[in-house]
Amino acid sequence: MVTELERTLGDEYTHANVDISGGHVFAPIGGHHSQGHQFTRHVSAFRRATERAITLRGGVFATGHDFKAVDSHEASAGFDIGTGPSRQARRTHRTLVDMARVVVTGGAGFLGSHLCRALVERGDQVVALDNLVTGSVTNIEELFGAGFTFVEHDVSNYVWVPGPVDVVMHLASPASPIDFERIPIQILKVGGLGTHNTLGLALEKQAKFFLASTSEVYGDPLVHPQPEEYWGNVNPIGPRGVYDEAKRYAEAMTMAYHRHHGVDVRIVRIFNTYGPRMRPDDGRAVSNFLVQAMRGEPITIFGDGSQSRSFTYVDDEIRGFLALLDSDLNTPINIGNDNEFTIAQLAELVIDVTGSSSEIVHLPLPVDDPTQRKPDLTKARTLLGWEPTVQLREGLERTAEYFSSLLG
Ligand SMILES: NC(=O)c1ccc[n+]([C@@H]2O[C@H](COP(=O)([O-])OP(=O)(O)OC[C@H]3O[C@@H](n4cnc5c(N)ncnc54)[C@H](O)[C@@H]3O)[C@@H](O)[C@H]2O)c1
Repeated sequence: MVTELERTLGDEYTHANVDISGGHVFAPIGGHHSQGHQFTRHVSAFRRATERAITLRGGVFATGHDFKAVDSHEASAGFDIGTGPSRQARRTHRTLVDMARVVVTGGAGFLGSHLCRALVERGDQVVALDNLVTGSVTNIEELFGAGFTFVEHDVSNYVWVPGPVDVVMHLASPASPIDFERIPIQILKVGGLGTHNTLGLALEKQAKFFLASTSEVYGDPLVHPQPEEYWGNVNPIGPRGVYDEAKRYAEAMTMAYHRHHGVDVRIVRIFNTYGPRMRPDDGRAVSNFLVQAMRGEPITIFGDGSQSRSFTYVDDEIRGFLALLDSDLNTPINIGNDNEFTIAQLAELVIDVTGSSSEIVHLPLPVDDPTQRKPDLTKARTLLGWEPTVQLREGLERTAEYFSSLLG
């Protein structure tokens, strides 16, 4: 298996095709690192990666997590997960079932896994790329099979998917406040380099590009509710700046590819979304409160709890993604729920839904925590005909059910 790779040692730009069960791995390797012991390290890491590649339930699971170049700034790795049906075959097929080949980055995450499922259900072929930094294969196990492929890959490195691609949906990014402190550079890289790499893939494939942006681009908003035209109030050097500015940069890069290269883009500004498959320990208000209530632990509110948020149930959010994807809107669109709650109200509702006897305790407010957040949904309603339908109590009940099965 590695012999072919070793044969290419010393090439300026090295390609290696290696069979794995059901698929094969394709690894372009930066030429100027391909020297001496450093390259030997590439080879052994690559060998470990390919040896770990497995097939699950008929679908392909390729992993390249261990394959890291010595200098990550120069790293590049791509994985061939098969080319899918030919464009002609898909064109013919599309007239019957409107099928597309869609690359989803962050596909093993909370929103990404729900999106992959929705795409597979509507008949699309999905290639999910994820480095599992905050996602989990458990979230996508049910999808392995015809039409769904997973590749473990860091999209802040070079991204390549062989064969035709109709849509690139870039969701990869840690999104939880606890990650802003834990992995700030990775967040900046995936918002910057990851967006650049995936836009490059869309340009090359003449594919539609969809960016998962965020209400955090509005920062601590001085306009309420927030329409898409509002430019925001972000502290670029505060602890939240790594996420907010990465997303603002990602939006700027996306619009530049649209204006300069003519890439057909969509940008969704996602407002707080919750539901099954959130990580129980990811520090977001809904998951925190539900898990604390279900464990009978004190519910921790930051500040006095008067700060407001709007909470969107995941099914509504994903329906909004698809409505936007299928539209022809190239400028950002808010997708969220415009029922506004204070954090204190959310805590009370969680206690009610779970029947918990947890007490509420207050902790200091984090730096730059937004005081209010609510989407102006005029565009989503009028241009997409989209409307959130799941009320907070109902969504919390469904999410509580999930956590209860998870926590036992
Ligand atoms: N959930 C929300 O309320 C919310 C709100 C606003 C925006 N968003 C955006 O939606 C997207 C998904 O968020 P989520 O809530 O599902 O978070 P998540 O952490 O569950 O999912 C993110 C996924 O991206 C993967 N990832 C991160 N960096 C990567 C990299 N460099 N290469 C490949 N994969 C990488 C993670 O492993 C994870 O599976 C993010 O872009 C986030 O910024 C989410």
